[in-house]
Amino acid sequence: MKIALNGGEPVRKEFLPFFKPEISNTEIQEVIDTLKSGWITTGPKTKQFEEKFAEYIGIKHAIAVSSCTAGLHLALDAIGIRPGDEVITVPYTFCSTANVIEQMGATPVFVDIDPDTFNIDPSKIEEKISEKTKAIMPVHFAGHPAEMDEIMEIARKYNIYVIEDAAHATESWYKDHKIGIIGDITVFSFYATKNLCTSEGGMITTRNDEFAERMRIMSLHGISKDAWKRYGKEGSWFYEVVDCGYKYNFTDIQASLGIHQLEKLEINNLKRKAVVTKYNEFFSGFEECFIPITKDYVKAAYHLYPLRIDFSKLDCDRKEFISALSSENIGASVHFIPLHTQPYYINKYNYKKDDFPIAYNEYTKEVSLPLFPSMTENDINDVCLSVEKIIKFFRKKMSVIKKIDNKDLNVRSIKAKEYIDERISKIASYFTPEDFDALHTEAEMKVMELVLETISIYYEDEADDYVKDNFDKFIDKKIIEMSSSVV
Ligand SMILES: Cc1ncc(COP(=O)(O)O)c(C=O)c1O
Repeated sequence: MKIALNGGEPVRKEFLPFFKPEISNTEIQEVIDTLKSGWITTGPKTKQFEEKFAEYIGIKHAIAVSSCTAGLHLALDAIGIRPGDEVITVPYTFCSTANVIEQMGATPVFVDIDPDTFNIDPSKIEEKISEKTKAIMPVHFAGHPAEMDEIMEIARKYNIYVIEDAAHATESWYKDHKIGIIGDITVFSFYATKNLCTSEGGMITTRNDEFAERMRIMSLHGISKDAWKRYGKEGSWFYEVVDCGYKYNFTDIQASLGIHQLEKLEINNLKRKAVVTKYNEFFSGFEECFIPITKDYVKAAYHLYPLRIDFSKLDCDRKEFISALSSENIGASVHFIPLHTQPYYINKYNYKKDDFPIAYNEYTKEVSLPLFPSMTENDINDVCLSVEKIIKFFRKKMSVIKKIDNKDLNVRSIKAKEYIDERISKIASYFTPEDFDALHTEAEMKVMELVLETISIYYEDEADDYVKDNFDKFIDKKIIEMSSSVV
C-alpha cells in the first residue's frame, strides 16, 4: 500500500491533532460567569481553585501561578538558591526546567536518565553532588513518577531540597503517595496540552509555611500579603513592596477552567489509560517498536504516549516518519530534544551528545503519538493503522535492499536469482555459452531493476508476484528474440 507521503490515499480524511484540550460547556459557562462578574484577574475563583487543589492533593498549601515555569522559578527562590549554586536535574526535559536554574544564576547539573522511564537515574545522582548542590529537581516524564524513595533518601543524606517538576504529573501516584506531597515543593503545569488545562497556568504545592508565604509574595511583585485583594471591599490601598518579586499570578478566568477540569481529572485519566492500553497491545506486535514501560508500583498520569522506534530497522529517519504520519493526517511530536544538545547549553557548557548517552539515544527513537481523553475507537485505530502502514512501507524497502549483498552476481534478490537460474537453465541447451551468458546477465539486470522498482511501491508479498510477472514477460520475449536469431 502506497503511503500518503508518496501520493497514496491517507488513512484519515481529517487531521487528528496530537492533542485536543477537553473543554466542555461547564468550563465555558464558568468563564462567562467570571467575565460577567467583573473580577477577571486573581480573585475569589483563584482562591477556590487553590483550596480545591490543595484538598485534592492532600496538602496544606496550593499556590496558583501563571505557569509551571513561573512556579519552578518561585520554588528555587523560596529555597534560597543563589548564584553559583548547583541544582541536579535531567537533560531529558523541557527547557524551562533548567532555564529557571540558569535565571537564578545557578548551574543545572545534568544526570542521565533511566531508559525505562526517561526519568532521572537515581544511581547516578550521588556522583554529581558537590558542596554547591542545593537541590534535586526530578521531572516526572510523561506522568510516570520518578523514583522518589531513592531521590528523597539522597536529599536527606546530603541535606538538600527536592523540587519536583510535575508538569506532566497531575494525577500521578508514586507508591501510596500522590505526586504533590512528596518533595519539599512540587510544581504542576496547566498549559494547553496538559492533563488539567487552564490554557496557561500552574500550581505549586508545599507543606512548608515559610516557602508558601515567600512564593505568594514573590508571585505578585514582592508585595506584602493578599495584595490581590487591594481593589476589593476588604482590601486596602496600602501595600508594601518587601522584595523585588515577579508578576506570576493566576487569573479567575483560568481558575474557571481549572475548577471544572479538576473534577474531570480522574475520569479523563482512565480514558487516557484506555488509549494507552490499546496502543500498547498493538505496538507490542512490532519488532521495531518499544512501548512505554509503567512500573507496577506507580499510577501514571499518561500525559504522553512516548513510543520508541528503532529507526535502524527502517529505511527512514524520524523526520520522514513524522512527515509520513502527518501525510496520513496524524499529528505527532517529539519529547524531548535533550537540553545538552540545545545551542544555549552547548555554548555555555560545551556539552557533547555523548555526555548523556542514554538521554540522547532515547531521544533519537522517541515519537509521541496522539493521546487525549476524547479520542474515539476510530481515532485510535487510525493512529495504529498509520504507524503500521508506514513501518511496513519502510521496512519492506529495507528488507529488499538488505538482499543486495550478492555483488558478484550483481543480483539484488537471492530469491529472484534462484528464479532466473531455474527459468534459464531449462532453455540453456538451445544457446551457445556466449548467448546464454548474455541472456543470464541481461536477466539479472532486469530482475534487479524490477526489485528496485517494487521497493517504493509494494509490500513483500505483492513485490514477489510483481517481480515474477514482469520477469516472465521479459524472459519470454528474450527467448523468442534469441531463439529466432539462433535458428
Ligand atoms: C517537563 C516540563 N516542565 C516544565 C514545563 C513548563 O510548563 P509551563 O508551560 O506551564 O510553564 C513543561 C511544559 O511543557 C514541561 O513539559
